[in-house]
Amino acid sequence: MKTLDELYARIDALGMEGGWHRKQPSLWPEPRANFLPAQWRYADVKPILEAAGHLVDHELAERRNLTLTNPLPGNGYATVRTLVAAYQSIKPGERALSHRHTPNALRIIVEGRGTYTVVNGTRVEMRPGDVLLTPSWHWHSHEAIGPDECFWVDVLDVPLVHLLEPMFFERHPDRCEPVRENVESCPLAFRWEDSLQRLDAAFGAPADAMSEREIELGEPAMKTVAIHVQRMGEDFASPEHRSTANAVFTVIEGAGRTCIGDKEFAWQRGDVLAVPAWQPYRHRVSKNAHLVRVSDEPVMRAFDWLRQR
Ligand SMILES: [Fe+2]
Repeated sequence: MKTLDELYARIDALGMEGGWHRKQPSLWPEPRANFLPAQWRYADVKPILEAAGHLVDHELAERRNLTLTNPLPGNGYATVRTLVAAYQSIKPGERALSHRHTPNALRIIVEGRGTYTVVNGTRVEMRPGDVLLTPSWHWHSHEAIGPDECFWVDVLDVPLVHLLEPMFFERHPDRCEPVRENVESCPLAFRWEDSLQRLDAAFGAPADAMSEREIELGEPAMKTVAIHVQRMGEDFASPEHRSTANAVFTVIEGAGRTCIGDKEFAWQRGDVLAVPAWQPYRHRVSKNAHLVRVSDEPVMRAFDWLRQR
């Protein structure tokens, strides 16, 4: 080996790369904000789910859901790097069979009464504004008794599980797990009326000033996922903020506009916004609003990677 080209050819042939001669850098000064700002409007999605209700049999579909795929070229699934969000519907008389998986999941109820979820044998009603958890490896099924078709937003840490690879999934051997108890409240169900009461009692704005009041559901809600409920009054305008945490926002009520990176989105009830890590964003509210922010903050915190600016 007399030349650098010969040296690199030998290194390459052994499946190695010189650290001084990388084709792609492995370290960079700050996060690259790869995933793109994005929005999905409930007004667009609801008619599609209603049409799917006539065309897609629930037993066949297992879950009638529409995943929100970030427009990042090459991405076919995730909403932000570590999280996937989906809209889901269930009609009276339908049942989504029991299964369990290693990914953590939660649902944020947008509309409809009379749907129940069963988590590890505990059956609880899901009502608009409620947030329900199905932590890793908990059996869960859903059942709509009526009167309404029910619509909600799911958020799961499946893309993180894809990255780290500990994916396990199984269907319940009896199709539906037996109901052990019916409850009005349980630690896995955060009631909207309780969230409103806690927001009423919350003192002052959060440190990041991104809302007027903020509460956290759980401490955190699940090992990989944090959930914050935010309140902003009409005419609220936030500063610009960025975080290493990846986030998905769901609009429970109100209206406003959010700039994320170089994009601006006008939002209203039921809409979902993708705020990927390190994208600068700011809100302007035009009608009293409540947002639910789901993020991977616990992951960032666990490894001392949570940075905000
Ligand atoms: Fe599931």
